[in-house]
Amino acid sequence: RPGAEPWVPADAGIDELREASQSCRGCELWKDATQAVFGDGDDRARIMLVGEQPGDREDLAGEPFVGPAGRVLDEALAVAGIPRGSVYLTNAVKHFRFQPRGKRRIHEKPTVAHINACHAWLEAESRVVDPDVVVCLGTTAARAVLGRTVRIGQERGRPQRHGGVLVVVTVHPSSVIRIREDDARAAARAELAADLREAARAAK
Ligand code: URA
Ligand code: SF4
Repeated sequence: RPGAEPWVPADAGIDELREASQSCRGCELWKDATQAVFGDGDDRARIMLVGEQPGDREDLAGEPFVGPAGRVLDEALAVAGIPRGSVYLTNAVKHFRFQPRGKRRIHEKPTVAHINACHAWLEAESRVVDPDVVVCLGTTAARAVLGRTVRIGQERGRPQRHGGVLVVVTVHPSSVIRIREDDARAAARAELAADLREAARAAK
């Protein structure tokens, strides 16, 4: 399986890549999704943030992090003093993976095969944006960027050199939403913001 590579135009800017991603057949996820959700934001940003895959709302809107996880991310960015418009925001996998359950579409984690298939898009985005710092939001992003299994708790918030960039891993915003207890959830929000602040510091 070749993955996305045959669909990735050479020497393309972000807009051309985004357009081309709509035709991608690098894995089967395009079939059930509404559209590819490509990265968005400043294509010359110092900080690139990588999520997992679009959720239900993103799949419909065609933009990353516009649903509940996006609200948590927006708040953490604000606390960290990072304007959302100053970063480039994307996902490891560009099409929404889900299980239909009645009228609902239930998020399903992408497999390593999906991450690998979609990697050529992430690579192309990285080449164009050429960030100083890449922030991995959760294990799927960390796997896509670092190419290995990452235990977030062991590595979070500490910039690590990887190729020509500094990589900061942190939790996925959705993991904050899933915490039921109020104080624990507030603490998780604060830790996410602290990790983003470390990323901003590393970008200077
Ligand atoms: N979760 C992600 O990882 N990415 C999005 O764009 C939305 C939710
Ligand atoms: Fe292509 Fe990625 Fe969509 Fe799979 S998920 S079809 S590799 S853009």
